[in-house]
Amino acid sequence: MKDHNTRGQFTSSLGFIMAAAGSAIGLGNIWGFPTQTAMNGGAGFVLAYIVLIFLIGYPLLLAEFVIGRYAQSNPIGAYMKIKGGRPFIPAGFLGLLTVGFVLSFYCMVAGKMLAHFVGSFLEMLQLSSWAQWVVQDHWSPSLIFTTVFFLFTWMIISAGVKNGIEKWSTRLMPLLLVLMIVLVVYVLTLDGASQGLKAYLLPDFSKILRPQLLISALGQAFFSLSLGVGGMMVLASYTSKRENLTRMGLLVTLADLVIAFLAGLLIIPAMYVAAANGTAIFDAQGNLTSGMELIFRVLPALFDSLGNFGVLVSAVFFLLMSLAAITSSISMMEVPASYLVDNKAVPRKQATFIVGIIFWLLAVVITVNGDWLFGLVVTATTQYSQPLLGLLICIFAGWVMDRNAIIKELSSGNPQIGSSLFMKIWPIFVKFITPLLILMVFLQSFL
Ligand code: PHE
Repeated sequence: MKDHNTRGQFTSSLGFIMAAAGSAIGLGNIWGFPTQTAMNGGAGFVLAYIVLIFLIGYPLLLAEFVIGRYAQSNPIGAYMKIKGGRPFIPAGFLGLLTVGFVLSFYCMVAGKMLAHFVGSFLEMLQLSSWAQWVVQDHWSPSLIFTTVFFLFTWMIISAGVKNGIEKWSTRLMPLLLVLMIVLVVYVLTLDGASQGLKAYLLPDFSKILRPQLLISALGQAFFSLSLGVGGMMVLASYTSKRENLTRMGLLVTLADLVIAFLAGLLIIPAMYVAAANGTAIFDAQGNLTSGMELIFRVLPALFDSLGNFGVLVSAVFFLLMSLAAITSSISMMEVPASYLVDNKAVPRKQATFIVGIIFWLLAVVITVNGDWLFGLVVTATTQYSQPLLGLLICIFAGWVMDRNAIIKELSSGNPQIGSSLFMKIWPIFVKFITPLLILMVFLQSFL
């Protein structure tokens, strides 16, 4: 295996934070969180989400950070290196496979975002028929834009940790925040937005006790923090031993939460503005529109109703989506790429090429086969594989990995931690509370 100098390393804390927050903040926040909130009765979901993200998300994120930085390796390499890890090697491979599938469907959706961004741009240039071709719901433009998005991801990953991941995360994340704030402020000034705010922030008590709410909130927390699949492990393996992992993990969790919350302030009021302008936002059962319908029908209808200015708003919105997606997709592609680089000594450019081709082909299959395969892959990876992998990581960090090794890793960059209250609480979470909660919610989803 290679040492970390040839593997690459982040040059600063900021680089690591931006890369990890970039991985976490993605379509899951800007699209998933607001629509899940809307479907599950508003503020009750937000509350459940906040509780779960701290009870399950943060402890698990930290476990991934500890394993990754301790082993200085990708997940498979980590289980090979760390004492007692051998039985977990299949989990490493499952993570790799899962993240590859996530990458494939994610790039497909992100490709659509990119297509709408380009479409809005063409519209601004008065090239309407081109714009319509680009955004139509047909596999040919989808395939082109999925491929373009893949190429962007691939280019960043093949440039390496410092010149690829770090450079682009630190550039794009601040831009994302600015675009987000601009859009939130703008949408909140429109007619109908206040009704959306109410739907978002006032709990609907009839939905709070539904088991579905917890299952959705857990799935959302897992996806949003990129947990289980090893992306966070790999990023942590590139960070310096001087960094304080507990603090970094907390910052990433908070950043993820803040962006998800802000996205709710944008999307849900925007839907009600669209309704005020005559677009249907409820389905026949009275549920708020979600998923593709929301992003590719309701919001474009809203942008249309805003007149000439609407094209600009649309371009900014879909640019925001594309940026959020790319800082996440790079952390996905990095998992299999780093496996080839670390364990098989494949040069980075070749490793990226191989990984890119394999998962691009998978994305092509998903794109061409349409909704049923897409739905299947999303459910299998996010609802089953990710929680299962999270559970295994808890078992590994809580029960198998040597406690002294964990304390040593957490103390590096945070020397006082050994005697702190945190060191009394976190192991209890990783050993008992987090896995039990995952198991409970997971089993419930089978009932
Ligand atoms: N966290 C990303 C999002 O919210 C998705 C993701 C999942 C990224 C798994 C990496 C690994 O969109």
